[in-house]
Amino acid sequence: MHGKRIAEIMERGMRAFSEAEDESVLLALETEYTGRKSALGEILKGLKDLSPEEKKEVGPIANEARLALGRAASAARTRIETRKLAEDERFDVTIPGSAAPLGHLHPITRLSHEIEDIFAGMGFSIADGPEAETEFYNFDALNVPADHPARDMQDTFWLKQDGLDEKYVLRTHTSSVQVRYMESHVPPFRIVIPGRIFRNEATDASHEHTFHQFECLMVDEAGSVTVAHFKHTAETFFREFFGRDVEVRLRPSFFPFTEPSFEFDISCILCDAKGCPVCKKSGWLEIGGAGMVHQNVFTAAGYEEGKYQGFAWGFGLTRLAMMKYRIPDIRLFMGGDVRFIRQF
Ligand code: PHE
Repeated sequence: MHGKRIAEIMERGMRAFSEAEDESVLLALETEYTGRKSALGEILKGLKDLSPEEKKEVGPIANEARLALGRAASAARTRIETRKLAEDERFDVTIPGSAAPLGHLHPITRLSHEIEDIFAGMGFSIADGPEAETEFYNFDALNVPADHPARDMQDTFWLKQDGLDEKYVLRTHTSSVQVRYMESHVPPFRIVIPGRIFRNEATDASHEHTFHQFECLMVDEAGSVTVAHFKHTAETFFREFFGRDVEVRLRPSFFPFTEPSFEFDISCILCDAKGCPVCKKSGWLEIGGAGMVHQNVFTAAGYEEGKYQGFAWGFGLTRLAMMKYRIPDIRLFMGGDVRFIRQF
């Protein structure tokens, strides 16, 4: 008679525990099925009053039922708690994440890397030098003595001398690296020098006190490097850079550190040299200065006069960026306005 009751209690209890959905229901079920005052609890309590035979029959079944219901209760508790945890921490993997703000390279830096890659492909190495430069490397070594009118070609930021033996400037061009490099290298070599330069001038849409230049220098034994090499190098570079055929035009000019000297133009890449506002209807864009390295520059570097020959050219990287991206105001580059920078 007890056996049948126990089986019934167990069957109902097991089902109830397996269907329990929350903690309060579970607690009520525990009181009902496994508590001391539950039906099973009463049966267990009454075991002592049974005859030895009955005790022997009912005892194990009742105990078995107590253990089974206890296991069912703890299984239900685990299930309820696990589900609650999952609900608290539920996340939807299909919701787009919030992107961490990420910076990127300045357009000038990107362009500089692009240009370096093109020159590296032509066998050039990359060199650099200090932005605060001695008067010697920026001027004297480049055949621009103090009393020479060419000093005034570039408006210079002079730095306070403050007890230093030498006078310092913020370099006015990347040509300042030429003699520095030559002092520690023996030709043949070909290098490019990307860098920031400074001019003491009033700013407007096409003038900035700080901008970037790109210098190119190739030196070998006398007689082996000519203006034709320069022209070919420049044409190859600009063709690669703009991804189309570009013509290079030389005009006679003057720089103290080159002889002969040129200004050079490229055919207008905006209008295919047909004439547009950017090239002022000429079909040509002024790009930079160039020439064959003056022997005085070689001797300033400690080379024997007449032993070597080479070409040097420089152009405004900032100006090239303005052409490539059609940026109308040079001041945007160093203006620090992220709305401009973010467009690249
Ligand atoms: N350094 C010159 C300038 O800044 C450009 C130049 C470089 C000219 C190399 C000749 C050779 O104007």
